[in-house]
Amino acid sequence: MSHDSRATEVEISRTERYVAPNYAPLPVVICKAAGCWAWDIDGNKYLDCISAYSSVNQGHCHKKILAALTTQAARLTLTSRAVHNDQMGAFLELLCELSEFENALPMNTGAEAVETAIKLARKWAYTKKGVAANQAEIIVCANNFHGRTTTISGFSSERQYWQDFGPATPGFVSIEFGNAAELAKAITPNTAALLLEPIQAEAGVLVPPPGYLSEVRKICTSNNVLLMLDEIQTGLGRTGRMFAFQHEQAQPDVLMLGKALGGGMYPVSAVLASREIMHSFAPGDHGSTFGGNPLASAVAMAAIQVLLDEDLVANAAAQGQRLQSAIERFDTPAIQAVRGKGLLIGIQIDRQFGTAKRFALQLLDAGVMCKDTHSQVLRIAPPLTITDAETQWLIDKLAAVFSLAEPDSAAPS
Ligand SMILES: Cc1ncc(COP(=O)(O)O)c(C=O)c1O
Repeated sequence: MSHDSRATEVEISRTERYVAPNYAPLPVVICKAAGCWAWDIDGNKYLDCISAYSSVNQGHCHKKILAALTTQAARLTLTSRAVHNDQMGAFLELLCELSEFENALPMNTGAEAVETAIKLARKWAYTKKGVAANQAEIIVCANNFHGRTTTISGFSSERQYWQDFGPATPGFVSIEFGNAAELAKAITPNTAALLLEPIQAEAGVLVPPPGYLSEVRKICTSNNVLLMLDEIQTGLGRTGRMFAFQHEQAQPDVLMLGKALGGGMYPVSAVLASREIMHSFAPGDHGSTFGGNPLASAVAMAAIQVLLDEDLVANAAAQGQRLQSAIERFDTPAIQAVRGKGLLIGIQIDRQFGTAKRFALQLLDAGVMCKDTHSQVLRIAPPLTITDAETQWLIDKLAAVFSLAEPDSAAPS
């Protein structure tokens, strides 16, 4: 398979000449995709195990989502929230029924949903919990990833994310992930909320110990602290349940969704909460020109309907289990650990065998598109539409690449 054709080289150098250098993409130029598969400009075909960072849960260019997009695009796309539109109400009704929340606030990107949740928690703390002005604290976890705005980057524990972007927004306290006792110790009368990912995907698919989420739920309830779950990556079927909190029945007070809510076609995110919490906001407190626009609403409704109609949550659970247990059986010292739930799987690579990126490049040559996260972890997250035959194909390709794994002479010993 060739990734270095003249056309690819020209396209990459044109892009790199103009684009800000804030990403380090794989050396491949994708020009079309369908279902689980993507094609590059040289005609090579890849099984997409990146899924736009777990956003393309419904598969690429799903016909029903595409139909919703094109029909709505020809009818009405944008009104702003200055007036009502005839799509947003139906979208929010479907989303609230799906997640068992009373109210929703639509936004566009994941980071915006997290910013919205932070503002909501602070307003709730001042107006309902009785925290003194400007004293509210939000507890976050080490190794979190909630997006890239200045406030969110400021409470990241990843040096590159915060260094040189200060001063950080005050009011955030960081604790260890997966340790409920630490949460209990960190709560003060000023604590408004705990902001948490049920599985830390960007950090390397870190799954907390069993019982953690339900314990955290109890601690938040008994201290009148909001449990705010960021399910922007884990939600909408990715982990084999509609929401990852359902693995432990730990219904949050505030839920953030994004990514797959737009069916891989349009940026759509949302914050969900009870009426009591959401009505901390008054007109003018928060907003977005594009949030809840009719095009986004029509696409998101179709995206949810596809998840339900095609039983993609059950498929994610079944295929994820097959894939993860097959990888666990690979007989290679290159793999130190395999973690994950459903179709969110992390393969921890032993440093002696080089970086995860080294394997991502070998897999790309074998027709599998996947990306490293945090140097030593390969994340495998195909669309939830993956079939038995495609899962088997993926297992065979992974097995072939790992069976040839050799220690990396350049690796630090
Ligand atoms: C858990 C989580 N939260 C928030 C975000 C930010 O989403 P966006 O890139 O749409 O702003 C991401 C993106 O990867 C994420 O994984």
